[in-house]
Amino acid sequence: GAVELGPYRHYMQKEIFEQPRAIAETLEGVQSVVPELFDGPDGTAAWRIFKEIDEVLILACGTSYYSGCAAKYWMEGLAGIRCNVEVASEYRYRKSVPNPRALVVTISQSGETADTLAALRHAQSLGMTNTLTICNVATSAMVRECKLSYITRAGMEIGVASTKAFTTQLAGLFLLTLALGQSKGQITEAQSDTYLEKMRHLPVALQAVLALEPQVVSWAEDFARKQNALFLGRGIHYPIALEGALKLKEISYIHAEAYPAGELKHGPLALVDSEMPVVTVAPNDELLEKLKSNMQEVRARGGVLYVLADANTNIENAEGMHVIRMPEHYGVLSPILHVVPLQLLSYHTAVARGTDVDKPRNLAKSVTVE
Ligand code: G6P
Repeated sequence: GAVELGPYRHYMQKEIFEQPRAIAETLEGVQSVVPELFDGPDGTAAWRIFKEIDEVLILACGTSYYSGCAAKYWMEGLAGIRCNVEVASEYRYRKSVPNPRALVVTISQSGETADTLAALRHAQSLGMTNTLTICNVATSAMVRECKLSYITRAGMEIGVASTKAFTTQLAGLFLLTLALGQSKGQITEAQSDTYLEKMRHLPVALQAVLALEPQVVSWAEDFARKQNALFLGRGIHYPIALEGALKLKEISYIHAEAYPAGELKHGPLALVDSEMPVVTVAPNDELLEKLKSNMQEVRARGGVLYVLADANTNIENAEGMHVIRMPEHYGVLSPILHVVPLQLLSYHTAVARGTDVDKPRNLAKSVTVE
């Protein structure tokens, strides 16, 4: 234990800090975005399948499900390809309308999650034979059973609460978006190259975000005394808010919920008072002005805001409003950066509460039985 942990107190903290390396390794050897990146372990060619498919169906559980929810925004927004995301345990048991031309994408850190494997087999039984997995374990059942694969290189993840697996999944899903977008003529090679350059800079950008840790620790001191927390996001940062809330409940046992900020007035606003911290993921995108008015709604009810503001925005610290500013604006890839302070927030809140961070009660790293 202690030796491998190095300067870190827990595996989760170590794994959060390993993310620059995990992303760099996941991108290693990617010279350009080509379908071959996704060829199957038995040599099945991705390009032929990418030409054939007209829709993406993502199946996953837990944190992997949230990376899929984020990818939907990329798939439809950048690659112009219809994308649905389903919780594996729901999909496997509901009656659905199969599309034989769908690309079924499973996302799994372990590659052994029982519900995700069952959902994959269910899709296959419905005649959907174009299957791809984004997976962190090359020798897993998931990789064996899917025609195509992209292996993330997060390295072994020990903390039950997933961190580096999530960000590397996002990297893999972004590459998949670019590859599919090119196959469909929606993204040019030149555009892909520009995005890839931006991805290569992620490890450096992640280091700068990790350096915000002391500021996050001071937020965590407040959170450790709370019973509830609300997370808000809009667009692709809504799934990031969901992941932030999941992390907090998993390891600190604080009840946390995430909402798309526009839904605030349809329910959660009733819960907001001075005892409800409200975390807002606020990248500088086309929805920022709308988000700011959602933030006003929270402040008007005495709620205390914790805002992850973007580099080039004028959101400032004020009474009832704590701001951490992201070092760099990152455009469509910003979910990969914005999730990191949320991981650190849950980690330090759990540490302050004295919970068993790496082995939270009632949870398992890999759920291989139903
Ligand atoms: C468990 C873990 C989560 C993980 C989920 C899916 O619930 O505690 O961290 O996200 O399983 O696991 P997978 O290996 O399929 O990504």
